[in-house]
Amino acid sequence: MALQRTFHQGTDFRRALSIAELRLIARRRVPHFAFEYVDSGAQDEITLRRNRSAFEAIGFIPPTLCDTSARQQRTRLFGAELSSPLVVAPTALNGLLHRQGDLALARAAKAAGIPFTLATLSTVTLERVAREVGGRLWMQLYLMQDRRVAREIIARAEAAGFEALVLTSDANVFGQREWDRRNYRAPGQLNLRNLLDVARHPGWLWQILWPHGIPRFANVASALPPEARSARAGVAHLPRLMLPDISWQDLAWVREAWPRTLILKGVLTVADAERAARHGCDGIVLTNHGGRQLDGTIAPLEVLPEIAEAVGKQLTLLIDSGFRRGTDVVKALALGADGVMLGAATLYGLAAGGEAGVTHALDILRGEIDRTLGQLGCNSIAELGPHLLKNSSR
Ligand SMILES: Cc1cc2nc3c(=O)[nH]c(=O)nc-3n(C[C@H](O)[C@H](O)[C@H](O)COP(=O)(O)O)c2cc1C
Repeated sequence: MALQRTFHQGTDFRRALSIAELRLIARRRVPHFAFEYVDSGAQDEITLRRNRSAFEAIGFIPPTLCDTSARQQRTRLFGAELSSPLVVAPTALNGLLHRQGDLALARAAKAAGIPFTLATLSTVTLERVAREVGGRLWMQLYLMQDRRVAREIIARAEAAGFEALVLTSDANVFGQREWDRRNYRAPGQLNLRNLLDVARHPGWLWQILWPHGIPRFANVASALPPEARSARAGVAHLPRLMLPDISWQDLAWVREAWPRTLILKGVLTVADAERAARHGCDGIVLTNHGGRQLDGTIAPLEVLPEIAEAVGKQLTLLIDSGFRRGTDVVKALALGADGVMLGAATLYGLAAGGEAGVTHALDILRGEIDRTLGQLGCNSIAELGPHLLKNSSR
């Protein structure tokens, strides 16, 4: 009988050859509810799937007989050099996947020569990340009902030497992630099935819960009532703190308050991209929040060409949502993006193997970017362009 194809069946993350394989290892390493928190999208997950199919609709047209022996993938973002066109995206609650997950992600990003973005809702304080890791640090900002919280984070990030602020504008009305919610019988309270599943993961229990218990929203702890500071209680409490009243006026005061690089994360229209430029932003992130917010949203890749044409010369263009392959990254760069943010891809690495797992995820992607450049006849990112692509959906 012929053997069936299988991915690596164990938990050794070093055996993963792709992000998809790393995802399956992550799934075995952490309890179901923690994996689902990373992996699931909003409602029917239409956008989650569209983020992937958008890449499939675009094909490469490689020229042949090109000497690519001098290829490299260095680039520049906001005037500083990066070893790869990648940035670790802000993700909340990284401490659920690995002890002090924020530090592990920041260390792996620093070692890889790329920026790390710390989330407002991180489980390690921004001061600690700056002190213990350093590197190129960006700070993500959620505006809450009480604007003093943002004012404090801005002042603290500036004092700690963070080089950029990333204002997220697409999540103040929280997405309904139904598959995530089905693991709970009430907000913050796992159902019986999941409690039993947690008990089947003693390694995770030990690593995450000992000695301090459930991770806390360390950065905004002082803004939360004491009973809501742990991640468990906070998940129920936070949507009430993040009222949907943010507007362009808020962007204007954030611009006044933050003297360094400012990036608006949550843009999908040409009009908004132009408005961000007029408000003095240095960059924008084209994103649908990894399919976790409005289900049915287009993939950012679909609007990248028109936004690049409108504001590509004024703004640094970052993009995220669904990037799992080096080929995906190269397609976005060829369509006008300056860099790509990684959310789930690096989190699968974190869940599968901590800092070394994140490094492995980044190595997989860097290897794929390198091979793609070579197979496309390019020695550098600057040589990429739409002439190398054909969009079969048009
Ligand atoms: C588990 C998880 C938590 C996230 N938390 C935040 C957050 O706190 N703030 C934010 O701006 N984006 C957050 N995001 C969105 C990411 O920054 C990024 O936009 C998204 O993950 C990109 O899609 P990808 O996961 O397919 O790479 C989160 C994403 C994930 C997967």
